[in-house]
Amino acid sequence: MQFESKLADIPTTIFTVVSRRARELNALDIGQGYPDFPIDSLLSEHVTAAMREGHNQYAPMTGVLELRRAIAAKIESTYKKSIDADTEITVTCGGTESLHSAILALVRSGDEVVLFDPAYDSYEPVVNLAGGRCVRVPLSPPQFRPDWERFAMALTPRTRLVIINNPHNPVGTVWARADLDELARLIRDQPVAVLSDEVYEHVVFDGQQHESVLSHPELSQRSLAVFSFGKTLHATGWRVGYCVAPAGLTRELRKVHQFCTFSISAPMQHGIARYLEAKPEAWRNLGTFYQQKRDYLCDALEGSGFLLRRAQGTYFQLLDFSAISDAADVDFVERMITDARIAAIPISPFYSAKETARPRLSVMRVCFAKREQTLQVAAERLREFAARIADEPPSTSVAAT
Ligand SMILES: Cc1ncc(COP(=O)(O)O)c(C=O)c1O
Repeated sequence: MQFESKLADIPTTIFTVVSRRARELNALDIGQGYPDFPIDSLLSEHVTAAMREGHNQYAPMTGVLELRRAIAAKIESTYKKSIDADTEITVTCGGTESLHSAILALVRSGDEVVLFDPAYDSYEPVVNLAGGRCVRVPLSPPQFRPDWERFAMALTPRTRLVIINNPHNPVGTVWARADLDELARLIRDQPVAVLSDEVYEHVVFDGQQHESVLSHPELSQRSLAVFSFGKTLHATGWRVGYCVAPAGLTRELRKVHQFCTFSISAPMQHGIARYLEAKPEAWRNLGTFYQQKRDYLCDALEGSGFLLRRAQGTYFQLLDFSAISDAADVDFVERMITDARIAAIPISPFYSAKETARPRLSVMRVCFAKREQTLQVAAERLREFAARIADEPPSTSVAAT
């Protein structure tokens, strides 16, 4: 029997493809976004203790109360916003499930969802599953700032949801308060909700502040804000995230969540709650911590041929290779993995899910959530590869491979 695919245009994610190639060729993978250093041992001790004490059965659907209270306290101290732990916080399977449940709960068949291009790749497939359609507004290089005139033109009576991502993966920009004000003004009179992906909320550099929708008086009334302990506690494999939204939106989100994952790993939730109680400021230094790593990598790539504007936030850095090659990004990365044993993520797949609708770009993304030794080896391989490519006559350039 033949089934017609519901997601015919959706390929395997670029992260899976690149990681597989990196493994096959024993290449150093600094593409996918995960830390290669250990978590705080106190955190693992609390999780182990929670297991030993018997927190091994289903957790409540909304999340362990102690954890929701710890999250409310964290939001109060970070964003000066009082959140009701019972009705406004839901613990989910990473930020990914918050995004998934929110989109499925809000988007109906025929609805339009406005998002900014390039976009994290998990939004569009879920919009399509819900029967909706993504309307993409470009963030133009090299600054990748939102163009509010184009955004206004993208809004129609069918617009149901706007998805924003701040700090932004993959481009590393951080929005100013004025951006949130503009967004609020443009959707003020329309029945449009905002899904605000803020998983890198604490990874912001150079003295800038993260502007959360939670601290915006207007947007907070119509937004679902998504966060991730994976990013904040260096534990992406634990799959614990959460969604914060007004009670009405939270009720809708939970209708999907309860039949999607139902509830999240109990010992992890108890362990994180206790850890946050013991170290309520654990995330405060994340910006400084990652800024050092960003600067280490960027300094090491100075004069390498790769052009870069230092990321304002997230643990990703874009590298522009237009000065050394005119290859498409996917081809450039494939050759880099094969020849130099170093893997990065091309950014064209962060545009439309449809491969044929993607722009041709000379930009790739690397992740600097790595130990200094890893970054040192990565920089050496990138420099060597850039030097080799730059020396090649045009006929043998990557474009010809
Ligand atoms: C922008 C963005 N949103 C959401 C996620 C998913 O977060 P989690 O790993 O908590 O599911 C990621 C992970 O890389 C991300 O980069």
